[in-house]
Amino acid sequence: MRHFLKETDLSHAETAAVFAEAAALKAKRGHGTSAALAGQSWGLMFFKKSTRTRVSFQVGVHELSGQPVMLNADDLQISRGETVADTARVLSRYLHGMVIRCHEHSLLEDFAAAGTMPVVNALSDFLHPCQFMTDMFTLGERFAPGQPSQYAASLKGKKIAFLGDTACNMANSFILGGAALGAEISLAGPAGYEPTAEIRAQLKKDGLKESFTFSTDPAAAVKGADMVYTDVWVSMGMEAEKAERLKLMQPYQVNAKLMSLAKPRAYFMHCLPAHPGEEVSAEVLESKQSIIFDQAENRLHVQKAILAHLAASRI
Ligand code: CP
Ligand code: NVA
Repeated sequence: MRHFLKETDLSHAETAAVFAEAAALKAKRGHGTSAALAGQSWGLMFFKKSTRTRVSFQVGVHELSGQPVMLNADDLQISRGETVADTARVLSRYLHGMVIRCHEHSLLEDFAAAGTMPVVNALSDFLHPCQFMTDMFTLGERFAPGQPSQYAASLKGKKIAFLGDTACNMANSFILGGAALGAEISLAGPAGYEPTAEIRAQLKKDGLKESFTFSTDPAAAVKGADMVYTDVWVSMGMEAEKAERLKLMQPYQVNAKLMSLAKPRAYFMHCLPAHPGEEVSAEVLESKQSIIFDQAENRLHVQKAILAHLAASRI
C-alpha cells in the first residue's frame, strides 16, 4: 500500500512522472474524462480549516471519475474519542483512499498503519507535501517550459529563499523536499523559529544531506534567489502566539526592497491564504513576479496526478 505523507514518499523518478501526468491532466482538463478513480470513493477528512485543499481535492476526485466523501472531523466519532486505528479500520471498509488534514503528523502515520487504503497528507503541523509538490511543478513550468518530464530535474541547483516562520510545516516541506530535488533552500527568520531538530532527523532518516542554510538576516537569504517564498506568520493552531510572532517576524516581510535583492526575474510564491501587510506587502503580492494564483490552480492538477499514481500503485 502506497501513501503520500511526506515529500520523500515518492522517489525522484516518481516525482518526475507525477509532474508529467499533472501537465497532461492540466492540458486535457475539460476535454474528455479520466477514469483513474472510476468506481472509487475517497474520504476527505479535515481537522482544520481549508479553502484550496478542500475544494481542489473534492473537484479532483470527481474529475478522476471517483466520488469524494467530505468528512468534517468534528462531525465524526473520532472527535468524541473513537481511536484513530478504529476509525481507519472502519472507513477502510467503505472507502478506497483517504485525504487527511490534521494537527499531529503521527495521526496520519497511525491512520495509514491501521487502515487498508492509501492515505494522503493534506497538511499536518509537520509538513504540507501536496503544496510543496505543486509549488515545484509551478516552477518547473517556468524553468523547463514545454518539457514536463524535465520539471523535477529543473529544480536542481536553484536557490529558493524562505522567509518568516522557518519552523512551520511549509518551511519543513521545503527543507525535506528541497533536499530530495537538489535545490538550495535558504531560510531566514527570527531566533527561536529556526529549522527544528525534528526536520533534521527526518532528513537523516531519509538518507538525505542537508541542502538548507538558516540565517537571521533576510537580505542574505534572498540575495540571488530564483524564487522567494513566504507563508503566514501564524499557522493554524498557533493563534495564542499571534502578537509575539507579528512583532518578531516584521523584519522578514517580503516587500519590494527585499525582492530587489533576488535575481531580476525571480518569482514570488505563497501557499495562501496571504495577509497583505504582514508576511508580504500588497505590492509584491500583486506584482508581475507573483505567481500565487498559478500555484493555487496547480493544486488541482498535481493532486489529481498524485491520487492517480497512488490508485495505480495499490496492491
Ligand atoms: N494553501 C492551502 O493549503 O490552502 P488552504 O488552507 O485554503 O487549503
Ligand atoms: N503554515 C500554514 C499553511 C497554510 C496552508 C498553516 O499551517 O496554517
